[in-house]
Amino acid sequence: MKIAVAADHGGYPYKARVLEIVREMGFEGLDLGAHELVPTDDYPDFARYVGDAIQHGQADRGILLCGSGVGACIAANKMNGVRASVCHDVYSAHQGVEHDDMNVLCLGSRIIGPQLLEDLVRAFLSAEFSPGERFQRRLDKVKAMEAAG
Ligand code: RB5
Repeated sequence: MKIAVAADHGGYPYKARVLEIVREMGFEGLDLGAHELVPTDDYPDFARYVGDAIQHGQADRGILLCGSGVGACIAANKMNGVRASVCHDVYSAHQGVEHDDMNVLCLGSRIIGPQLLEDLVRAFLSAEFSPGERFQRRLDKVKAMEAAG
């Protein structure tokens, strides 16, 4: 599985560690920036990089970091095919994939510590979408809403 990782200046302090965890787990990590700490950079740009990678099949999932996770999540969800959420608890980080086919995990570097960061990334990347008519039915409804605009 290929995992696109990106962060604005708020998320930058944790980006390298996220990529390290991704690779430790045996996945391919795509570093989509920021490649240096630029205090004036903007989270929508990094959300777009991750969304583009998913839309074009260059990544299967994404992990976005900003200060709170919120701005990156709002921006990422504007892109078709992206199902992003802020998850700062381990249950949601895997249940979001299992029930909702979440494909982008958004994290707030100013909110969580390094051990929770690792647990969240591992929970997200270890999870798979659950087979089940009800999960697929709900996902289809979400996709229909997206298609309707
Ligand atoms: C940047 O200062 C900060 O606003 C951004 O990283 C993020 O927290 C927005 O949700």
